[in-house]
Amino acid sequence: MKHLYWGVLSLLISFTSCSTNHVEGIDPEEKQVYFEEGNHIASEAQKALLSKVTKAIADSGVNGAVAFCNENAIPITDSLSNAFHAQIQRISNKNRNPDNVLKTETDIMAWDLIEGMAREATAPPAQQVVLQEGNKIFYYKAITLGMPTCLKCHGNKDTDIAPETLQLIQTKYPNDKATGYQLGELRGLWKIALQPAQSDKTE
Ligand code: HEC
Repeated sequence: MKHLYWGVLSLLISFTSCSTNHVEGIDPEEKQVYFEEGNHIASEAQKALLSKVTKAIADSGVNGAVAFCNENAIPITDSLSNAFHAQIQRISNKNRNPDNVLKTETDIMAWDLIEGMAREATAPPAQQVVLQEGNKIFYYKAITLGMPTCLKCHGNKDTDIAPETLQLIQTKYPNDKATGYQLGELRGLWKIALQPAQSDKTE
């Protein structure tokens, strides 16, 4: 029974993946709720992180803020996850923290879809998808490199990032891929695991 259940669900995913409506199989009203809920959480998380990194730069400069992000970025998103009762992550195809790599096929699908939207000049707030993976629902939203401050740690290694900052980043993240960005580029995604609205009674 369990196998059949997973089989049906994975079939659902494969249908979902080739449709333009990325949440086919999900009730349209539920779909709207997922978008609203995901977008709300992503906006709050973005605000919280941004205000913390801005304060860290004001208090202890860009280098101090690198150390701050290194120690606090994941704990901050984890505490937001607790507050919202939804697992919140940041992921990227060119990740700095090894934990933030695109991990699943659904992540890669979300990346491709949102990168496509960014290429087609869809405005960043609308760069979002809801995808189903097994019995889980994931909301993804673009994190755009939207402010010149971001370049101090993610821009051009020669012209945007100060040498000491670059050295610090490379010491803390020997496999860093997250430099070389320009303003307006897609930097990463919010990934938010949402509670399915209807639980499967046959489980
Ligand atoms: C003071 C340096 C600094 C600034 C300024 C900065 N970042 Fe980062 N960023 C980091 C560090 C360090 C990490 C890795 C954090 C960790 O260990 O989880 C990171 C990680 C990220 C990630 C998670 C994916 C990954 O690569 O691990 C995203 C997305 C991101 N930054 C976007 C931005 C955006 C957008 C801005 C501007 C609003 C910005 N950052 C400004 C230092 C910075």
